[in-house]
Amino acid sequence: MKKVKRFGVSLEEGLLKKLDAFVSGHKFPNRSQAIRFLINNNLVSLAWEHNREVAGCAVLVYDHHKRDLLNRSIDIQHQYQELVLSVQHVHLDHHNCLEIIALKGKARKLKELADKLIGIKGMKHGQLVASGVYSGK
Ligand code: NI
Repeated sequence: MKKVKRFGVSLEEGLLKKLDAFVSGHKFPNRSQAIRFLINNNLVSLAWEHNREVAGCAVLVYDHHKRDLLNRSIDIQHQYQELVLSVQHVHLDHHNCLEIIALKGKARKLKELADKLIGIKGMKHGQLVASGVYSGK
């Protein structure tokens, strides 16, 4: 485990109250974990903003009976195969499939790929979940 360093933080009373509400509202075990989360969340957002190496996943819901849509999705995934880590396919019900495509690469390319997938004609739902770690690169 990495060495943990302590430091003092001064906050206005109102802001501290907001922090404590955030801690309990999100079930964080303590303030330190909540602050860690807030810092990392912000750094990951910056990594996406600055087109750094990031990770995430595209979540798609579609009707598998629409073969054109399926072919289009597979074509697009092959075009960006260097970004695709894995694809998980779940049959939700008779018509609907849920696909979770794990991605890693430059933020702009991930967005581009997700936009193409989400924009396929007939796609019922799609969302890019932006995640990753901040590497500073
Ligand atoms: Ni299916």
